[in-house]
Amino acid sequence: MRRTRITRRDFMTTTAGAALAVPLGGLMLDPDAYGKSAYSLSAASPRPVPPSDTVRFGIIGVGMQGSGLMATSIKLPGVECVAACDLYDGRIELAKEIAEKTIFTTKRYKELLERNDVDCIIAAVPDHWHRQIVVDCTNAGKDVYCEKPMTHHVPEGFDMIEAAATNNRIVQIGSQRRSSVVYRKAKELYEQGAVGEVCLVEAVMGRNDPCGAWVYTIPPDLSPETVDWENWLGSAPKRPFDPKRWTRWRCFQDYGEGIPGDLFVHLLTGIHTIADITAPPARASSAGGLFRWKDGRDVPDCISTIYDYPKFHAMLRVTLNTDAQESTTFYGTGGQMEVHDDRVTVWAQDGMDHGPCTPGWPKKLRADFAEPWHADHDPKPGSQQIVPSQSFYTPPGYNDDREHLWNYFNSVRTRQPSVEDATFGNHTAIACHMANYSYEHKAIAVWNAAAKEIKS
Ligand SMILES: NC(=O)c1ccc[n+]([C@@H]2O[C@H](COP(=O)([O-])OP(=O)(O)OC[C@H]3O[C@@H](n4cnc5c(N)ncnc54)[C@H](O)[C@@H]3O)[C@@H](O)[C@H]2O)c1
Repeated sequence: MRRTRITRRDFMTTTAGAALAVPLGGLMLDPDAYGKSAYSLSAASPRPVPPSDTVRFGIIGVGMQGSGLMATSIKLPGVECVAACDLYDGRIELAKEIAEKTIFTTKRYKELLERNDVDCIIAAVPDHWHRQIVVDCTNAGKDVYCEKPMTHHVPEGFDMIEAAATNNRIVQIGSQRRSSVVYRKAKELYEQGAVGEVCLVEAVMGRNDPCGAWVYTIPPDLSPETVDWENWLGSAPKRPFDPKRWTRWRCFQDYGEGIPGDLFVHLLTGIHTIADITAPPARASSAGGLFRWKDGRDVPDCISTIYDYPKFHAMLRVTLNTDAQESTTFYGTGGQMEVHDDRVTVWAQDGMDHGPCTPGWPKKLRADFAEPWHADHDPKPGSQQIVPSQSFYTPPGYNDDREHLWNYFNSVRTRQPSVEDATFGNHTAIACHMANYSYEHKAIAVWNAAAKEIKS
């Protein structure tokens, strides 16, 4: 879409209307304004789906994320869970609790892929399993929603894109901000030039508690009897049963990608969505360290990365040592746009001098210049002034996970492309790998598109 600058008059007109509609100076976003939305699918206003259009899914991985995805999905109209797979008895039990009906359960995910009553899959397994499961799903003719980050290693993404294309299957990556009404609004504002030409983006997130630092409580019944450990390891290096690694896999490079794969990916998804980024960043440079959580993990607990994109550079800063609200700010010649989970706010700037710019001039020269300057530039009575800020909020109860799942099931139903296909997911995943590469090699990571690899 062509970018057009919002004039001061346009901005005034928009904000004046909004101010009348919502006294607090914010506008409640309408998720349905961007096409089919899950938001209006409440009990009060269901959007019925004919029984023939019911989508039946099987879920692989019913852990922290999978259990939420399952519970959310089964409340969507025309969506039914028929099967669940996990490698831990406790999670199979959890799947049965969530389903509130009899479903097929197993520790072998391939059994889900063989079933005719499974139309599609949701996979919420640790990252080192993503490639294999997506390839197996698509080869078996099943669409698949695969959690973020799409890959554990760079080459995997290209295998997954090929598998989706060859088998003509929907692959949706699970970065829910891609479907969020806030990010859609932010994208619209960005494209309208609400903050002018953007040359810097800054994205921040911080946590300050053991749970936030992935120190999850180990289930007391976890043992080789209740977990299929060999299978869980998959392609990762073999090692004896380790309940810490099973529970806190994000802390270990064998299974996860530390902060970039877990948290940068959400920030990157937002930036790539808003600014319509269609390739990995050209370069990445990271700094950071393991300062606090010295519990045997082999990833940093604080990392900052600067990325080069064609039109701006982006600075991402995430720490597990200080709580900090997640925000992504676009800095432009026309002001700032700050994006949070539940709102986007624009602070407009006119980029003009608000007084004569005559530094170090002698008094008379300064005064002679100032008089006509003020006559030309000072606001006239009755003229419009720039509105300092304008916010757009999500409606109450809005949930972007639900929106993202609704988009997935609609793609499965209609065969329309996914909102977050494997190519998009691959670009953000590569950016995560670039951050880690730079941190580990103490060098600038350069994306070589022709070779499909990161070099320094
Ligand atoms: N989109 C988000 O906001 C979000 C939030 C949290 C996690 N995630 C992603 O979801 C995925 C899962 O994370 P989690 O926190 O739920 O992990 P988890 O460890 O809580 O759950 C993963 C589950 O997968 C099971 N599993 C592992 N390998 C399996 C296999 N081969 N077959 C069947 N089951 C298998 C495990 O037994 C476990 O129960 C990760 O990719 C993570 O990055 C996304």
